Amino acid sequence: MKSHCFLLPQTAFFLSLFVSLALSHKYHESSALHSQLKGYFSKVYAFGDSYTDTGNARSLGGLIAKSKNYPSKFGEPGSRLSDGRLVIDYLCEALSTPPLPPYKGASLKYSGGANFALAGSTALSGDYFLKGKLHPLIWRRTPISFQTQADWFRNFQQLKGCNRKNETKCIAEMESTLFWIGAMGVNDYTRTIGSSVPLHWLAERSVTHVYGLFKVLLESGAKYITIEGLPPVGCLPIAMAQSRNQNLDKMGCDANVNKAVTFHNQILQRWLEKFREMYPNSSILYADYWNAYLTILMNPKKYWFKEPFKACCGAGGKFNFNVRSICGSPGSSTCNNSSNHISWDGIHLTEAMNRHLVDMFLNQGFCQPSFQELIKSKSGI
Ligand SMILES: *[C@@H]1O[C@H](CO)[C@@H](O)[C@H](O)[C@H]1NC(C)=O
Ligand SMILES: *[C@@H]1O[C@H](CO)[C@@H](O)[C@H](O)[C@H]1NC(C)=O
Ligand SMILES: *[C@@H]1O[C@H](CO)[C@@H](O)[C@H](O)[C@H]1NC(C)=O
Ligand SMILES: *[C@@H]1O[C@H](CO)[C@@H](O)[C@H](O)[C@H]1NC(C)=O
Repeated sequence: MKSHCFLLPQTAFFLSLFVSLALSHKYHESSALHSQLKGYFSKVYAFGDSYTDTGNARSLGGLIAKSKNYPSKFGEPGSRLSDGRLVIDYLCEALSTPPLPPYKGASLKYSGGANFALAGSTALSGDYFLKGKLHPLIWRRTPISFQTQADWFRNFQQLKGCNRKNETKCIAEMESTLFWIGAMGVNDYTRTIGSSVPLHWLAERSVTHVYGLFKVLLESGAKYITIEGLPPVGCLPIAMAQSRNQNLDKMGCDANVNKAVTFHNQILQRWLEKFREMYPNSSILYADYWNAYLTILMNPKKYWFKEPFKACCGAGGKFNFNVRSICGSPGSSTCNNSSNHISWDGIHLTEAMNRHLVDMFLNQGFCQPSFQELIKSKSGI
């Protein structure tokens, strides 16, 4: 029989789900992420939102979050919105580069790269949230737009990075730098849940801002870029607890939010195709956060998660999430063992989850093309 050379998106999704399930009994987490990719890159530049920020929002005083609720298993207390390490931290461990200093932090040493990710940054402008009276959550009222990170990066390159004074040196430096763009837009979706913001409009707006940043990086000579799609935001406790509609998807998650995020990821991937044509000499990877997350959610026990839908830190209810009493507020408490939870505070993920995710991105084929392909092209194989 003649095989078809294209698949409908839905078919492809179920097929990939089926393949990952079929393979799942063989799955072993590589016991050590540490140093497995040592020597390929000497620098990492990271961008993103609260899923990737390692201290910028804290330095700028942008968090209402209390340090003690975001403990210091790793880094400064309150610098990360998790109980420990983020995907970007595990990535640097695997590459054997130093933990990334936040651009707005006290560090003056950027020899291993810098982190421009900012918790609370959004595609929508601060005014929009003020006028709409949308959730402040754990951030101050006015979020900063993604554009700021592109500006920070430009300034950084002029002052401390490669400023094209010495073209040879500059090109060599770009050749040994990995650009990692973490999830961008989680905040836009979580802040608008239950509001009348049209979700398709939001997805278009949100991806446009990511596009702007991507363009700045490629124009500045970036050769190796990985960008994360968005996770199924509709499966986060914040969405499940606030979902007004009874419209749940097959995962039991908020179908409207997840539909918008799917749309967001589709537009993003279409744009990446265009960028690959425009910059054939750059490796551009899409980290499939959506499918990595869903794979874990469909089989939580395999990853030792006992509470896939319940926040570790919160104030009770079916999802241990209450928007009026978020993690750190009076009345909230912290679970005994965060390794049993996917979600730390209802919005952000636990260290245990982040560890699985980075393993899936680097080793289990959840990047397209795979991270191994990127390493191969880096080493000229
Ligand atoms: C550029 O930098 C490299 C390495 O630091 C050095 O060997 C070279 O002489 C420099 N070239 C110019 C034109 O300054
Ligand atoms: C890509 O690299 C090749 C070989 O180094 C070079 O000839 C070509 O001009 C580059 N293409 C672009 C678009 O930079
Ligand atoms: C945590 O452990 C203590 C002691 O084992 C137990 O009393 C308490 O109920 C546990 N708390 C939660 C939230 O499971
Ligand atoms: C927490 O849960 C993980 C996974 O189930 C387990 O390996 C670990 O021993 C637990 N830690 C404590 C302190 O009970």
